Amino acid sequence: MKKTVSKNISGLKGSITIPADKSISHRAVMFASLAKGKSVIKNFSRGQDPRSSLEICKALGVDAQFFDETTLIVNSTGVLKAPSQPLDCGNSGTTMRLMSGILAGQGFNSVLTGDQSLSKRPMKRVIQPLSLMGAKIDSIDGHAPLTIAGQNLSAINYDSPLASAQVKSCILLAGLNADGVTTVTEPYLSRNHTELMLKFMNADIKTDGCSVSVSRSKLEPREINVCGDISSAAYFIAAGLIVPNSDIILKNVGLNPTRTGILDVVKFMGGNIEILDKKNVSGEEVGDLRVRYSDLAGCTIEDGIIPRLIDELPVVAVLATQARGTTIVRDAGDLRNKESDRIKCVVNELRKVGADISELEDGFVINGKTQLKGDAELETYHDHRLAMSWYVAGLVCDRPVVVNDFEWAGISFPEFVPLFEQLS
Ligand code: S3P
Repeated sequence: MKKTVSKNISGLKGSITIPADKSISHRAVMFASLAKGKSVIKNFSRGQDPRSSLEICKALGVDAQFFDETTLIVNSTGVLKAPSQPLDCGNSGTTMRLMSGILAGQGFNSVLTGDQSLSKRPMKRVIQPLSLMGAKIDSIDGHAPLTIAGQNLSAINYDSPLASAQVKSCILLAGLNADGVTTVTEPYLSRNHTELMLKFMNADIKTDGCSVSVSRSKLEPREINVCGDISSAAYFIAAGLIVPNSDIILKNVGLNPTRTGILDVVKFMGGNIEILDKKNVSGEEVGDLRVRYSDLAGCTIEDGIIPRLIDELPVVAVLATQARGTTIVRDAGDLRNKESDRIKCVVNELRKVGADISELEDGFVINGKTQLKGDAELETYHDHRLAMSWYVAGLVCDRPVVVNDFEWAGISFPEFVPLFEQLS
């Protein structure tokens, strides 16, 4: 589907509620499936990725039904059953990597498959630590499909070369079903939803800085309220800051400190953004944000902040085109392993609308402020975050832009366009 986006002249105004967090929705349905009894997940994401996790849990014998559009009731015996077919992870890296950790220690065999994009993404990062735990996983040179022969696992003490929540979570989930204490240490702290939710469900888990340890545990069922996704809010944050005259309120945004790098960066750039109200919901911090049009200055984004805003970097690139001076993003080489090569694709596409952007091995450099030009067709590369970032860019281009294959936005955020239209 082609989406034409025109310059917004009047400014974005009003208030919207940000839909459910994708990362937390994946974990909620997977962990509820491991807990014996009835869990209720309120505000489960409508995105296709978490729905892939849900379908896989069902294929593993878990009774999971929607009570209404977003309230999911999960009834589980706490024991998964052998699937009768390969398990389709669709486009979702989180589904494939977390499920690998769950399936490696089961008493049955399984196969995880993915779409074209997921089948190109690196899986050695989970196969290697799981193999150290005794897992048996066949792949096509480190890529899906993954054929997993369930084994008894033993604990490991793993120093992860990457700050990756998917790798960390995979190992911790395997550790729930392994003999001994499994410890993962990462170079910087990546998102910690797994740790918080496992604790909330009574697992034997301890955190210490960038290290986390887990022992064999039985999870207890819970009611889980999924907060809004700060990665989805990021498109509205960026648009509110760069579209003149904007003044918007974003409600129910997850403010877990391992995810709020975008707030730190925009404040540093001079963005007018306020947190209006903070509370704790199901173990996660949540609040409302007020965002107003701002005069932005470029900055350098590097080191430990990168895992705290990894998914926001494409829209940060759009934001940086509207900031005075130079913005440098580095230490973000793993962007090349996301749903697309997000370094190459961001550089290619933003150049089409006249951005002054150059590619680094591990990031990009942008000089602003530039009046972006329209009359361009921007490609999505099967990547939801690029589709939505190009929409935001279109709001400040002098002429309309066309975003090709815009339907990919539905991977994480099917409500994206109606919510933008509500503010226009
Ligand atoms: C995710 C972790 C991140 C992120 C992805 C979701 C998660 O990946 O990019 O969209 O839910 O754990 P890495 O932790 O591998 O960087």
